[in-house]
Amino acid sequence: MDLLHTTRALQRRADVERGAGHRLALVPTMGALHAGHLSLVEEARRRADRVWLSIFVNPTQFNDSKDLAKYPRTLEEDLGKCRQAGVDLVFAPTAAEMYPEGAQTCVDVGELAHPLCGATRPGHFSGVTTVVAKLFLAAKPHVAVFGEKDFQQLAVIRRMTRDLLFDVEVVGAPTVRESDGLALSSRNVNLDPEARRQATVLVRSLETAERAIVAGERSAAALLHGVEREIGKAPLAQIDYAQLRHPESLEPAPAVLEGPVLLALAVVFHSPEGADGASVRLIDNRILDPKPLSGGISP
Ligand code: PAJ
Repeated sequence: MDLLHTTRALQRRADVERGAGHRLALVPTMGALHAGHLSLVEEARRRADRVWLSIFVNPTQFNDSKDLAKYPRTLEEDLGKCRQAGVDLVFAPTAAEMYPEGAQTCVDVGELAHPLCGATRPGHFSGVTTVVAKLFLAAKPHVAVFGEKDFQQLAVIRRMTRDLLFDVEVVGAPTVRESDGLALSSRNVNLDPEARRQATVLVRSLETAERAIVAGERSAAALLHGVEREIGKAPLAQIDYAQLRHPESLEPAPAVLEGPVLLALAVVFHSPEGADGASVRLIDNRILDPKPLSGGISP
């Protein structure tokens, strides 16, 4: 497995591989790799004969400097996991490499970046799309794989790719979870043990909504009320947002649901009183599909 640190070296390598007829897949990450990231590597392997993974804790997408400072950095372990997973090349640039002295160009998508995480983390998606655009230009992949766990991120990156005419196929991959249902996240290690136990409230509230839909509930307000009640059972959890949105446009869902909707959650977990951990913000989502109720009126 090769390890490169400069965009220049990566671009030369991409030219050589492309010239030799290889198909390149890129898996962009911020490191602290877990089974969720490695599932993206597997998906990449199904779609290309060269799998490259980037590790870069991108400062411009953090709107909280404490969050950036405590983001786990585990390069040696990550390289071991990549080797085992059959990654062909790791790109691990420095911040100065990705943001040359005096850098001032940003990539911003419009409306899609405003609601949900965009509302509570101003500037976050601008940082994401700027760095992903740079990674596409540096690695020149045919295909890039992203997780559906970060649903809005995937939507924003798809939009950017289409809008800027990138010749890259953007692929989404399903969320990998712990055995108790908690979505894997590099931030889970920052959860205090009691907060970790309570963190399953995210997946439980998604399941509550799913059951309600299956039972025939079509009212957006009633569904969200059920979700809020479920999250309210976890004393350390504080809702950042719980919203129903159109899965592609991310516009608010109608009051009475007709087609598939995205249920998107962001919940902040505080440490129990007396414990000195900081708070940790987790996200999760599910597509709810209100299929026509059986026994309804046939056309
Ligand atoms: P990071 O949080 O490291 O995630 C890298 C990729 O792994 C993203 O596409 C994310 O959606 C995916 N991922 C995370 N947890 C997952 C899980 N439990 N199951 C499946 N996939 C999962 O997302 C970023 O980094 C950055 O914003 C990045 C796109 C690299 C730009 O800096």
